[in-house]
Amino acid sequence: MADLVSIILAAGEGTRMRSATPKVLHPVGGLPMVAHAVRAALSAGAGRIAVVVGPGHEAVSAAVTAVAADAAIFTQTERLGTGHAVKQARVAFESATGNVIVLYADTPLVSPATVATIVAKLDAGADIVVVGFEPADPTGYGRLLTDGERLLAIREHKDATDAERTIGLVNSGIMGFKSATLASVIDRIGNANAKGEFYLTDAIELANADKRRVEYTIADAGEVIGVDDRRKLAQAEMQFQELRRDDFMTAGVTLRDPSTVHFSYDTAIGRDVTIWPNVVFGPGVRIADNVEIRSFCDIEDARIGQGATIGPFARIRGGADLGADVHLGNFVEVKKSTIGAGTKAGHLSYLGDATIGEKTNIGAGTITCNYDGVNKDQTVIGSNAFIGSNSSLVAPVSVGDGAYVASGSVITDDVPADALAFGRARQENKAGYAPKLKEKALAKQALKQAAKGKS
Ligand code: UD1
Ligand code: MG
Repeated sequence: MADLVSIILAAGEGTRMRSATPKVLHPVGGLPMVAHAVRAALSAGAGRIAVVVGPGHEAVSAAVTAVAADAAIFTQTERLGTGHAVKQARVAFESATGNVIVLYADTPLVSPATVATIVAKLDAGADIVVVGFEPADPTGYGRLLTDGERLLAIREHKDATDAERTIGLVNSGIMGFKSATLASVIDRIGNANAKGEFYLTDAIELANADKRRVEYTIADAGEVIGVDDRRKLAQAEMQFQELRRDDFMTAGVTLRDPSTVHFSYDTAIGRDVTIWPNVVFGPGVRIADNVEIRSFCDIEDARIGQGATIGPFARIRGGADLGADVHLGNFVEVKKSTIGAGTKAGHLSYLGDATIGEKTNIGAGTITCNYDGVNKDQTVIGSNAFIGSNSSLVAPVSVGDGAYVASGSVITDDVPADALAFGRARQENKAGYAPKLKEKALAKQALKQAAKGKS
């Protein structure tokens, strides 16, 4: 395969998003759209990635370098069209000898297979390859004027005749070029058109006039959704989720109600994992084999060990690391904690900044008090310990192996291994006092009613 350069156009204003955030930073599957485009370029084997950003879009550059540290960033100070945007990245392709793939940062779901098809056609002799698709409504897109396998021209919607507007096959924006072909046409693109912009799509007619071979390939419409507003963003997200669900089911994950489970771009799940309805995965989740996740869990930045059972209604986040066979039940939140194999927290707990050993039982209502309003402190609990229900563990504090904390304790001092800790007031029983208490209450009520009658 020839060397591959990828140019990603990300200088869009995105005014139709009605957002303070640049369009290409809006996430799909938890990752900014521009980063999806960069990942697509990387998975296609691009050795050099050039991203064209708008002025002042440092955050876009940062999102790019987070996934491709050595990507070259070019700034397009005036937004004069896609052809003009490509020119800004000239140094990335004019000395190149192989192929150039142009991707639009607002088209995040393009598959590695589609990019591979472009590359294969270029390697087989095409000079330009355009990815077309057939949307339900072609309004606004550039139309592909074809003759058999050959692409003759792309006519932008605003410049098209009524006859051309009846064409259903349109330009996705994704194109491949032999780098020499791109270099030979880029400076000849003009701006005498309806928008007064330098259209990259004019490269097609220029190359045909030079007797170059210009071809096209047709992609699935869902793969090349271009996100220009929030409706399209929602469509792209749904499409992304559909693809991930399908991948996971293929890989041996049971989804009891697939459409209600939402994944992140990097969710990793082992085999024979069962996920019940209404579960959301944020970025950074790795799940081992044989895990069961019951309904209404929200999980991000977490590792879940083999055989664990989670939920319903659990929240796990912030670098949580759960060992094998851990059980977390309803209304348990775990943040930035390591929990050893076989440990159970069945109900209503907050475990934050904690390290917990193996086979420990965390009783209902146990809270690690990790925050004093300024600092976060650690709680360390050993193995085979038992924390009685409704206990508060005031960090920094530790509970040793095999220790037992009595229910309702507020633990402020370390508990040694095998100790029994009481951190609560002792109970006192007053014999026969209950009826007296009731008499008092009734008398108080009678007084109140008498006062009301007077007024
Ligand atoms: C473009 C295509 C059209 C295609 C459609 C697919 C052209 C002239 N038209 O139209 O054929 O059907 O995409 O969605 O290419 N950008 C820059 N700098 C600019 C202009 C655009 O970086 O000066 C970037 C945008 O950030 C975006 C991409 O290029 O990622 C496409 O620009 P946009 O204005 O959305 O083009 P469309 O009118 O959608
Ligand atoms: Mg667009």
